Amino acid sequence: MGTIFTWYGHATIGLQCGEMPLIVDPFFSGNPAALMKAQDVRADYVLVSHGHGDHVGDALEIARRTGATVISNFEICGWFSAKGAKTHAQHIGGGFQYPFGYLKLTQALHGSALPDGSDGGNPAGFLLTTTAGEKIYLAGDTGLFGDMRLIGEEGLDLAAIPIGDNYTMGPDDALRAVKLLRPKVVIPIHYNTFPLIRQDAHAWKQRVEAETETRVEVLSPGGSFALGG
Ligand code: NI
Ligand code: MN
Repeated sequence: MGTIFTWYGHATIGLQCGEMPLIVDPFFSGNPAALMKAQDVRADYVLVSHGHGDHVGDALEIARRTGATVISNFEICGWFSAKGAKTHAQHIGGGFQYPFGYLKLTQALHGSALPDGSDGGNPAGFLLTTTAGEKIYLAGDTGLFGDMRLIGEEGLDLAAIPIGDNYTMGPDDALRAVKLLRPKVVIPIHYNTFPLIRQDAHAWKQRVEAETETRVEVLSPGGSFALGG
């Protein structure tokens, strides 16, 4: 069975890689789109793309309760480690072989200050090659950048990219991103959480599928997509 991708609303993603549950940017408390509570999350690893409150979210509570390892950049890992979480620090361009796969941090064009104003280093995305060989790109909060073409050269099975506009790429640039990334499937995220980032994902799906070979999976919060399924 392939990896199962679940979208919990906003940028919160669950990845079930074989037996191993991962949670990415876990923002449940105070997230109007989230149907689930942080205390119900199971995780062996917590991935944090950057320091903003809507991404750090409930990561500390989940890491402390479950004993999960927080994976992020060096600065953010230092912040979590000082608060008692287990961490594994990486940095952009660097990869590491975990039991769930090989995870590389990628660049993202955004900010990364932590909720208390601490330096959150540079924002990142994630490129995961699962132990089953699937390539999954989670862009994080980012604007469009031309080197998405290099990430696309990896041969992506799945990409999750923001379409909300205002803080990240909007629908037009997200369409250009799909043309650079050329994933088999793309899932839009970071929209409809708040009025400021309201978007019509179904209209975006029509545009992407008319202009590219990529299939768009529009999920509702709590909805899942199974790779290879
Ligand atoms: Ni952000
Ligand atoms: Mn964000």
